[in-house]
Amino acid sequence: MTEYTVSFEGTGEEIQVSEKETILTAAIREGVAQEYSCRVGMCLACSAEILDGEVTQPAARALTDEESADYALTCMARPQSDLTLERGKYPPSIEMDAADVDGGAAADD
Ligand code: FES
Repeated sequence: MTEYTVSFEGTGEEIQVSEKETILTAAIREGVAQEYSCRVGMCLACSAEILDGEVTQPAARALTDEESADYALTCMARPQSDLTLERGKYPPSIEMDAADVDGGAAADD
């Protein structure tokens, strides 16, 4: 079984993650404070920006194909190399959803 080192930017934390487990599972086991909610790849709460390395995350349904190259949903993502991640970074689509909500509120004014 291959294991990779996942480093978290800004905190210096490092965990070992098997290619067969999700980054979130390993983070919880190792006591790393990774946010999450749905754990099924839909809510984006566990998103992290991929600063270096590669993951596989075919079930990360909340990400577009383009976003999945730059962001990992840690509840779905399994490492394919050593990784450097920045937690709490979200793909552009979440910002667009927020803009839609703001736009709707402004139209009511
Ligand atoms: S916890 Fe919801 S997408 Fe990962």
